Amino acid sequence: MKAAAEEVWFAPGRANLMGEHTDYNEGFVLPFALAQGVSATASGRADELLVLRSKQVQDDPVTIRLDSLTPGSVTGWAAYPAGVAWALRAAGHVVRGASIDIDSDLPVGAGVSSSAALECSVALALCSLSGVSVPRRALAAIAKRAENEFVGAPTGIIDQSAALLCTEDHALLLDCGTLAATQVPFRPAAAGVAALVIDTRVPHALVSGEYAARRAECEAAARLLGVPALGGLTDVRVLRRLGDPLLRRRARHVITDSARARAIAAALQGPGAADTAVEAAKIYRFIGKLLVEGHASLRDDFEVSWPEADVTVETAITAGAYGAKMIGGGFGGSVLALVPTGSVGTMRTAVTAAFTARGWTLPQFLDAVPSPPARRLA
Ligand code: GLA
Repeated sequence: MKAAAEEVWFAPGRANLMGEHTDYNEGFVLPFALAQGVSATASGRADELLVLRSKQVQDDPVTIRLDSLTPGSVTGWAAYPAGVAWALRAAGHVVRGASIDIDSDLPVGAGVSSSAALECSVALALCSLSGVSVPRRALAAIAKRAENEFVGAPTGIIDQSAALLCTEDHALLLDCGTLAATQVPFRPAAAGVAALVIDTRVPHALVSGEYAARRAECEAAARLLGVPALGGLTDVRVLRRLGDPLLRRRARHVITDSARARAIAAALQGPGAADTAVEAAKIYRFIGKLLVEGHASLRDDFEVSWPEADVTVETAITAGAYGAKMIGGGFGGSVLALVPTGSVGTMRTAVTAAFTARGWTLPQFLDAVPSPPARRLA
């Protein structure tokens, strides 16, 4: 019998320049796709089964009947691909059986969106093998639904949008209220700047209660302020109307981070951006300052930072970075740093030394190069 034809689909991880916890508040985010990501090598099957394997998990393949998929019925890593099949079917698409082998060069739990990369690579593979055509924005919503309802993580739309919609040499300014998307030129290397993701090696878990608690606090603040979502607010003076200081801090983070995302996008789009080395340095110094403000806001107002991230940010700046901030949901994961190319070595040595001095697991450094979106590789 002839072997079924294989297709290889890839979806990238992401780093977010600004706008954390703003997506589910309908504010702005500014992610870019990484070169690293997840690949799904898939072939169609004549039966109604999904047979899932991961190179990163030493275990038997997970076999799932497509017609028995219900939220909660699959746990562990396979819940993400299974959830995508479920969400595609729930959206009315006919999904064929498939064997899918997953491989990844993204660290898991590092805040670089390995789950969305897994969802989106599988979503594209299943659509292609099933002859189903879904526009990318709709596919992002389907993958998000898989994560929210099938896996049970109450996340927003940034990660799936980044994996599917970001483009090479750009960051994506996404208004999560209207879903209006703007491609913003972002070529740090051309300006003599290295973007680095520093994995602090403290894994985060989004299903854990803190993420959901922050989301609930934001919703409570929006209710008290009489707005549908905090992302629509631009003036922090409105927060005087919130009696509870904790809710005031949470809301202040959302309003200011969303404003910072727009300010960075404007700086990158501005006249003269990266025209000369002097101009570029000025722009990246400004962006770096906003990164540091964003980190402080996540640490003090939103309270989702963790000690390893705070030390990484402080050390990176002392060692010459223009700026650095935690990325992702928090309580573990990675820091994004923008560093003049000439200071990268000093910065890496300093951060590693700071971890060694505290007896922490050593961090890992990934080049964060603004890369193309999810695509077929073969
Ligand atoms: C996680 C979630 C996203 C977003 C970020 C914080 O990555 O998946 O939806 O809320 O945290 O910006």
